[in-house]
Amino acid sequence: MKLKFNNGKFVILQVSDAQDLQFVRHTMIRMLNKAYDTVNPDLVVFTGDNILGNHLRDARFGSRKVVHTKQGELERMKTAINHIIAPVEKRGIPFAMLYGNHDDMNWITKDEQADIYRSYTMCRGLDNPDKTVDCDTYNMPVYSSDGEKIVYNIWMMDTAWKDKEEDKCYTGVKKEAVDWYKRTSDELKKQNDGKVVPSLMFQHIPLPECMDLMEECKKTDDGALRFFRDGEEERYVRLDKKKADGFLGEPIMGYDIDNGQFEAVKEKGDVQAIVLGHEHVNNYIGVTQGVKIIQSSAASFRCYGDRLRGVRVFVLDENDLSDVNTYFLTYNELCGKNLFTELAYIWDADGEGKKKAALIAGAGVATAAVTAAAVSCAKKKKGERQ
Ligand SMILES: [Fe+2]
Repeated sequence: MKLKFNNGKFVILQVSDAQDLQFVRHTMIRMLNKAYDTVNPDLVVFTGDNILGNHLRDARFGSRKVVHTKQGELERMKTAINHIIAPVEKRGIPFAMLYGNHDDMNWITKDEQADIYRSYTMCRGLDNPDKTVDCDTYNMPVYSSDGEKIVYNIWMMDTAWKDKEEDKCYTGVKKEAVDWYKRTSDELKKQNDGKVVPSLMFQHIPLPECMDLMEECKKTDDGALRFFRDGEEERYVRLDKKKADGFLGEPIMGYDIDNGQFEAVKEKGDVQAIVLGHEHVNNYIGVTQGVKIIQSSAASFRCYGDRLRGVRVFVLDENDLSDVNTYFLTYNELCGKNLFTELAYIWDADGEGKKKAALIAGAGVATAAVTAAAVSCAKKKKGERQ
């Protein structure tokens, strides 16, 4: 079934880094359910690290391996994927996905994993007939409200894969995928009477040019972050406010390979923004060399993160597709801020360990006090009767 505008609007909801296991943190699922009901999107895109693929064999606590067969791992993978897909499937919302570095780190091939997503009726994309690229590199045309013509396009680009024989992970869009993008962009333009089809390009890991959005600074400057890469001297960076708006909780780390992707995007001129995940505590919109970069923070509670946990929304207007209209919704904006939502956040979110320990200790003390009071009361009553 093709994607199309609905009364002139097309709303995309991006969920990035939902990474969790078969034992899911329910606060994230509650947040996602709230997002779907609040935003009512036409498409949900899962932009990588959809599951914690490298921990599927682990025991519930710790990293001890308790699954020793590919079949066992596959079953756990299906359960983990179902936690994030069932809410959209149940609501009848079309969804699409691409992989992150965590998804592929296991015995299951990318195609086998894609088959799990494809088994849901609302799955879109994952259908590229061009076999020079990975299965999660594809595009999804979006048709006009009357269904007559393609007016928008969505690129999904793989940036992470594992060589399972060598046990080594690679990051970056492959050269073959860049070539495919160029060919397909030309084809779409041809079909559109020679005019470029405006589009969004989703990928998990930032490309090298995203690092242009940082500036060197002093350790004591506002927003300074320690930047360190093997072989390089320690230095300090922060978001360059002349080029970007938003928040940087960690330095931007683009992958190293030079695949010509950025130059291709500039040359084709059809991508209104490259939209990223992977960096859990970064959330900004910037422009470098005329290309817009949009970074979304993570959704997962089972990973490093902060109060930027949430989802990003894109609202496309069929009558004015000249620019991207986007905003981010955090956990508190979606779920509210009250005693229950705060306790749920502290209970489930990694990084809240001290508060969680204090809660448990507080609950222990309260339980002991109530028990002591009840025992004392019971003894007193017994005494009264005697
Ligand atoms: Fe990632």
